[in-house]
Amino acid sequence: MVPAADRVSARVQLASTRAALAKAGIPYAWLDAEILVAHVLHVSRERLHSHPERRLTQPQRRQLRRLASRRAARVPVPYLTGEREFYGHMLTVSPAVLIPRPESELLVELAIEWLNAHPAARRVIDLGTGSGAVAIAVAKAVPQVRIVARDVSARALRMAATNIARHRLRRRIVTVRGDLLRGAGPADLILANLPYISGKQRRVRPKELKYEPALALDGGEDGLDLIRAALAQAPAVVAPGGALLIECDPAQARRVVRLAQGHWPLAEVSVHKDLAGRDRVIRVQLG
Ligand SMILES: C[S@@+](CC[C@H](N)C(=O)[O-])C[C@H]1O[C@@H](n2cnc3c(N)ncnc32)[C@H](O)[C@@H]1O
Repeated sequence: MVPAADRVSARVQLASTRAALAKAGIPYAWLDAEILVAHVLHVSRERLHSHPERRLTQPQRRQLRRLASRRAARVPVPYLTGEREFYGHMLTVSPAVLIPRPESELLVELAIEWLNAHPAARRVIDLGTGSGAVAIAVAKAVPQVRIVARDVSARALRMAATNIARHRLRRRIVTVRGDLLRGAGPADLILANLPYISGKQRRVRPKELKYEPALALDGGEDGLDLIRAALAQAPAVVAPGGALLIECDPAQARRVVRLAQGHWPLAEVSVHKDLAGRDRVIRVQLG
């Protein structure tokens, strides 16, 4: 029996939240419980562990119960806390934007590598910017670049603008609302993380995905509608000697390579693997 005074301690609240999430079938319930308790207490997870005796006020316990029941209904944790870390940078997120994925860090790494190898290249387009995650990570790492962060969603662009301001990058990243590359100025490098979920994947997708914007996920029946259309527009936008980096589903990689070779028969096209060892990014290097 837990003494009454201890029932409001972080230790006990953590245990009961973890039990409630595990009962609801949430994988890694312990981790989510830690994140949520730390969030309501405004402390780091490390601090939560070093001070488990810390007490939650009544409003904090109410907030925790609300968050835990939304998590039990499969709302993704970043939408509950309003934050997500990407490439070491903290971003504000909401259901207006896709939650940035770890696999997209490969897009950032390849962009940084390419820009460092081409120091005269300054004009970058982040196509389908969402929260601004990719643009921000690249701009932070490569000080000479100017980035146009494009998206068709006005709500996503507002979130990107919030994050760009949060990271003090307003002078180097501008947001532009537009359909793919229509009306885009010339660029040395295009980074594209467009929606690529196919109809088949959509029909079996995990419950969490229903909370993310369909506009950020659905790529048409074969998942390639947006990538195909962007590749058709890109030859008018990418400067000679420039490059494109395109994130895709591993199962689409060969088709994206063929599409790119169809537009640029002389380009050097390579496939790059994410940390899970899966084909994830196609690089198209123009001559
Ligand atoms: C997979 S999300 C990527 C978001 C972000 N780059 C990231 O890595 O977290 C795709 C983004 O493409 C945008 N998008 C969808 N259709 C578009 C279009 N026709 N033109 C421009 N952006 C589009 C969506 O609004 C969404 O923000």
